[in-house]
Amino acid sequence: MATTSLPGGTWTLGDLTVTRFGYGAMQLAGPWVMGPPADHEGALAVLREAVALGITHIDTADAYGPRVTNELIKEALHPYQASLHIATKVGATRDAQGGWPPARDPESLRRAVHENLETLGLDTLDLVNLRLGNSEGPVAESVETAFEMLADLQKQGLIRHLGVSNATAEQVREAQAIAPIVCVQNMYNLAYRADDELIDSLAAQGVAYVPFFPLGGFSPLQSSALSAVAERLGATPMSVALAWLLQRSPNILLIPGTSSVAHLRENVAGAGLALSADDLAALDEIGR
Ligand SMILES: NC(=O)c1ccc[n+]([C@@H]2O[C@H](COP(=O)([O-])OP(=O)(O)OC[C@H]3O[C@@H](n4cnc5c(N)ncnc54)[C@H](OP(=O)(O)O)[C@@H]3O)[C@@H](O)[C@H]2O)c1
Repeated sequence: MATTSLPGGTWTLGDLTVTRFGYGAMQLAGPWVMGPPADHEGALAVLREAVALGITHIDTADAYGPRVTNELIKEALHPYQASLHIATKVGATRDAQGGWPPARDPESLRRAVHENLETLGLDTLDLVNLRLGNSEGPVAESVETAFEMLADLQKQGLIRHLGVSNATAEQVREAQAIAPIVCVQNMYNLAYRADDELIDSLAAQGVAYVPFFPLGGFSPLQSSALSAVAERLGATPMSVALAWLLQRSPNILLIPGTSSVAHLRENVAGAGLALSADDLAALDEIGR
């Protein structure tokens, strides 16, 4: 699909056109992303509404649940519309305590790609991000062995496009020397802006930047400056936070999470808000 009425328009990941307004499925699993959702039908309804609204980019991972969000996506949406592109992640697994231990040795990566194919019901994964670092953030270490494995699986036809997640700028460069990447998925939002420079450098290269926790994640953004701008515009703080990201750079793709159809509709309706220079200046202060 070439056009959309969704805020932000579209972006091309390699040869795949996606709406810049996407959907992040992580919050559909149970508490702390473990186990099934309390409301199974409600979770399916959110996914179906996302597609009905015209969203063509859904972000997931086999580690969510584990398996839970992938299986919900398959149940709600398979067979998939040709325009829908599902991005997944490999490189972390889950332990009994709900932790996210790394699993980046070649055999674990190969297994994770096959598990994603199976749980999503696909022959080829459109986009696989190598999830790096740990739950504290990126860790400076080589990605060579792990990314070479994914590049090999890509050559075998199991993966269309590659990306990295929770990565340092150096790791992005190291991965790019092995195989092209179409996106970087890192933590970034109005209040957490460590990647400002990286975003601009990726924009210049035509590589997408996909902020995770765009609304603050498990503790949604709260800021008096954000509330003040939202009040002045008669909008919700979440709408302002998403509109700010869309205006921040054309290569930013949104994957806000929600387990609520009402929030999903509200976020889509609000993210197209035009922010003035004064609004942007007030919002800029939040991340400083
Ligand atoms: N690569 C990585 O390491 C990594 C890490 C974390 C996440 N991710 C990806 O990033 C995506 C987004 O992250 P996220 O979902 O954790 O965080 P998020 O999008 O920043 O925030 C989601 C939270 O905001 C709430 N929310 C959404 N819309 C709202 C509204 N209109 N009003 C009030 N509250 C609202 C949701 O609650 P309700 O359910 O009540 O709406 C949920 O608690 C995930 O789905 C996942 O795909 C990737």
